[in-house]
Amino acid sequence: MAMSVVNAEVRVGAGVILNTASVVEHECVIGDFTHVSPSATLGGGARVGARTHIGIGATLLHLATVGDDCTIGGGAVVLKQIESGVTAVGVPARRLR
Ligand SMILES: CC(C)(COP(=O)(O)OP(=O)(O)OC[C@H]1O[C@@H](n2cnc3c(N)ncnc32)[C@H](O)[C@@H]1OP(=O)(O)O)[C@@H](O)C(=O)NCCC(=O)NCCS
Repeated sequence: MAMSVVNAEVRVGAGVILNTASVVEHECVIGDFTHVSPSATLGGGARVGARTHIGIGATLLHLATVGDDCTIGGGAVVLKQIESGVTAVGVPARRLR
């Protein structure tokens, strides 16, 4: 979408939405059917699985990983790793349930 930035050596799966003003930094990997919401930022080398929702304004620090079928809440900051199937919110992002 408009103003989204995808930097060098990024791999994006099928059916992914990179929404308004999202930033996907160098060498990120994004799985199929994931949604990166407006103004979310994926730092360099971050990896996101399939069918995951990265909430509005959320940030993944460089090299952070988020699994398949996750929901990352709006404004969350993922420091290192979120396992598959988890909803996580806050700074730093922690499992909601
Ligand atoms: C994470 C999310 C999916 C949780 O939704 P939910 O299951 O309906 O959760 P609730 O609203 O019942 O909130 C549950 C608790 O989590 C907290 N919470 C929810 N979202 C939060 C967030 N993003 N950051 C911090 N805390 C959050 C609530 O304050 C509540 O805390 P409490 O139990 O102490 O009162 C949702 O709040 C969210 O952030 N969605 C992102 C939507 C988005 O980015 N859309 C973009 C469209 S383009």
